[in-house]
Amino acid sequence: MTTRMLTGGAAVLALMPAIAAAQCDDGERVVNFSHVTAANGHPKGEMAAALAERVNEAMDGTLCMEVFPNSTLFDDDKVLEAMMLGDVQLAAPDVGKFDAYSQALQVFNLPFLFASTEAVQRFTEGEAGQDLLMAMEDSGIIGLAYVYNGLRQFSAGQPLIEPTDAEGLKFRVTTSDVTEAMIDELGAQPQALAFSEVYGALQTGVVDGQENTWSNIYTQKFYEVQDGITETNHQFLTYLMVTSQDFLDSLDEGTREEFLSLVDEVSDEYNARANEINAEARQAIIDAGGTVRELDDAQRQAWVDAMTPVWDQFEEAIGSDVIEAAQAANEG
Ligand code: LMR
Repeated sequence: MTTRMLTGGAAVLALMPAIAAAQCDDGERVVNFSHVTAANGHPKGEMAAALAERVNEAMDGTLCMEVFPNSTLFDDDKVLEAMMLGDVQLAAPDVGKFDAYSQALQVFNLPFLFASTEAVQRFTEGEAGQDLLMAMEDSGIIGLAYVYNGLRQFSAGQPLIEPTDAEGLKFRVTTSDVTEAMIDELGAQPQALAFSEVYGALQTGVVDGQENTWSNIYTQKFYEVQDGITETNHQFLTYLMVTSQDFLDSLDEGTREEFLSLVDEVSDEYNARANEINAEARQAIIDAGGTVRELDDAQRQAWVDAMTPVWDQFEEAIGSDVIEAAQAANEG
């Protein structure tokens, strides 16, 4: 294939072997990790950088890992295709973005299902969560580890206190059927957009609002182009670090085991820091002059009542057993 035939991230990649070769020794396997968030001040960005450092140190001469943050290589809607073509070996999209491959993974996007990082951890470490790592095996996609971000918050160009304040507004969402349905329940309009397009869309009024975690809102500066952020804590943003079956099969057993054990070690380490990183981002937004609105119990309950009807819509597709296991994880 020539560079002329390629578009977007693939064209960039066609120019990359020289860059990769400059940093990798002859005979080392290149492990490209493409993701969409900031490299610093972000649970996924920091985890990816630390994993590359650990792999390059411990597996020098065998693997050579490079991280491409901030959608510099691919947006999440292209990265899995790139992985199947062997252009990328690691990605960690928000689980909601896998809905073309697995409906069960949408459990993470059910609004107000998970109340805390600890609940998500109990679920992902339990049997149902571990089974979901292999939910996309038939498509050649293997889940290696869950990576936690945090709870999502709503923001808009006007104050949002009651869910009725969202009526008629247009909200940017990820490509998740559950999230789109959740916005519909508010009487608002969902607009799926790539993460890299959100700031511009908020700034120019293409959309009125968005919903994301403190670390994403801070590192992408969404607070600069919004009236304020309402602490709804409505959905837990979880990532699934994935690779292709082909890549795993291409490694000899010793290399594969060592690589997978580094993935486990580093993801555990950064999952334990996710709460702290998000709390720092929340404070940094306030320090930078952003407005954070807290809800009282009655106001928050109104958001719960408005959005949880989507559970029924997706119960069959996700599986009631998976939803029950997730609910049980909330109880500790
Ligand atoms: C989003 O698109 O809002 C998030 O999935 C981005 C991310 O990876 O945190």
